[in-house]
Order: sequence, then C-alpha cells, then structure tokens
Amino acid sequence: MRHLLSISDLSKVEALQILNTAEELARVSDGPMKKLPTLRGRTIVNLFAEDSTRTRISFEAAAKRLSADVINFSAKGSSVSKGESLKDTAQTLQAMGADAVIIRHSASGAAQRLADSQWMTGSVVNAGDGTHEHPSQALLDAFTIRRHLAHGGDDLTGLHVAIVGDVLHSRVARSNVLLLTKLGAQVTLVAPPTLLPVGVESWPVKVSYDFDSIIESVDAVMMLRIQMERMTELFFPNAREYSRYFGLNKDRLKKMKPTAIVMHPGPMNRGLEITADSADSARSVILEQVTNGVSVRMAILYLLLAGSQEIGASE
Ligand code: CP
Repeated sequence: MRHLLSISDLSKVEALQILNTAEELARVSDGPMKKLPTLRGRTIVNLFAEDSTRTRISFEAAAKRLSADVINFSAKGSSVSKGESLKDTAQTLQAMGADAVIIRHSASGAAQRLADSQWMTGSVVNAGDGTHEHPSQALLDAFTIRRHLAHGGDDLTGLHVAIVGDVLHSRVARSNVLLLTKLGAQVTLVAPPTLLPVGVESWPVKVSYDFDSIIESVDAVMMLRIQMERMTELFFPNAREYSRYFGLNKDRLKKMKPTAIVMHPGPMNRGLEITADSADSARSVILEQVTNGVSVRMAILYLLLAGSQEIGASE
C-alpha cells in the first residue's frame, strides 16, 4: 500500500489487515510503552485546507505515538490564503522532506491529484476530500462496530447498519458504504429523497425513507451531520420536521435492539440529527469512535511507512 485515497482501492484482505494491525497497536498503546520507535526520523505533514478537529488531532496523535515528526499545516494562516496552488504547496512540502502527507481538502479528488502528480514522492492519505471519501473514518467506524458486535469474528457478516441523514453531502457515508459492504454487513441508507445522491440505486445498499420501519432491525445506527455549509438550496422544509422524521431521539432509541449501538462521525448538530440524550446514552459509542481513530490511523501510517516491520521493533 503506497497511498490511502479511497476504500475502493483496498481489498477485503487489506482492509482487515488495517483493522487487525489497529487492534495490535491499541493493545500496545494500552500497555506501559505508549510510544513506539517505528517511524523515528520520518516526517508526516498534516495538510488541512478544510476545518477539522478529530481527524487532524487523531492523525497527529497517531504519528507522534509512532515517534514521527509532525508538521501541522492549515490553509488558514498559510500562503494558501494568499492564493498559493496545491502544486506549489506540495512541492514546498517535498522540499522539506515529507515522507507522508495527510490531506483534507474541499475539492473532491484533491488527494488523488496529489498522489498522481510528480510534485512529491511520499505517501498520500485522504483525510476527507469534498463530498467524495473519508477512508480513515470508515476504517475506524468498522473497527468500532467489529469490537462491539462481531463477537470475535473477523468481518461484519450478518450485521445490519443504518446510515441516516445527509448522505448527499457525506464523504463518510460513501466510504462506509464501500467498506461495510466489503466486510459483509448489510447497509440501509435512510434519508429524505432530496438528501440522497443521484445514482444511489446502483449502490450495494437498501434505501428507506422511513426511519421507524427499520429501527428495530439494526445493529448499529450511524447518524450523519446535516452539512449546512455545503447546502446552497433548501433540502428539507425546516429543522423541526427533519428531526421528527430523520432524527435519533429517545423514542427511537427505545425501539432499538438491546445490543444495538449509536454512532456519529462528529461534529454533531445536537438537537437536529441527534438529540443530546441519544448522543450521551449508554448505547452511544461516539467517543469510542474518536479513541479508536488514533489506533486505526496508527495502523494506516504504520502499514504505509513501515511496511512489514514488526510492531515494536526499532529501526
Ligand atoms: N469525523 C470528522 O472528520 O471530524 P472532523 O471534521 O472534526 O475531523
């Protein structure tokens, strides 16, 4: 694996290798030796041209736990805000000796563009490109579901996951559909027709416009943020109506299987797609998703940059 740009680039075996490596690294992180020497002397650049809390901090924590040097670069406050291009930014990072670039960008395909270019030689990790994909988020989501519900199984066969809300603008939904179905789960998208992408009929999922009709059958419900910043027109009549039909609330929580879990990639619009009592309920694994994100991103960096080197071995 040279880059991580899209879940579609991963075979099932490669996806499971990332999840299994993350399990091993989580065990190491939980032990007395929090930091591994594996990436000592390597430089990882967080190139964030769009806002982020979880992904940026999580990749930084992951890189530091593997002893890499980390450079945090955000578009705000950099020469990107003076009009510098992605090419010139990438070449500047190359000149500084970046071994890997973690890129978040508002343009779908920006990570692929960087990887395909001759601008830099290091690995490229897609940390969210427009409405296209967010592969590390899907991997940490699958890791979290597997830990809770797979009962020792390797993949997610037999599990039913509902992805609910603003699928149209969601790179998290796209990556999760690809990964969860690759790992054997059944996925149902629940959304108003206006928030589903054109061509969704060809995705390997079921579609429902009625949250209540599927809530009792799901093992995990993944609520999506309503992405107001990407909306240039009206997609639903008003917030109250959206919450009533597509929000997760106490009543829907009660209808879920006793073992079912509540997920959200964050950041949440509390009171819109999810009520506070649902987000903070005993079923919620939202903060576990954040914790697991560090182990999964350690695994991604480890497999990209250290290859077959044994976990815990020094260079
Ligand atoms: N889930 C996610 O991508 O969150 P951030 O935007 O805070 O990174």
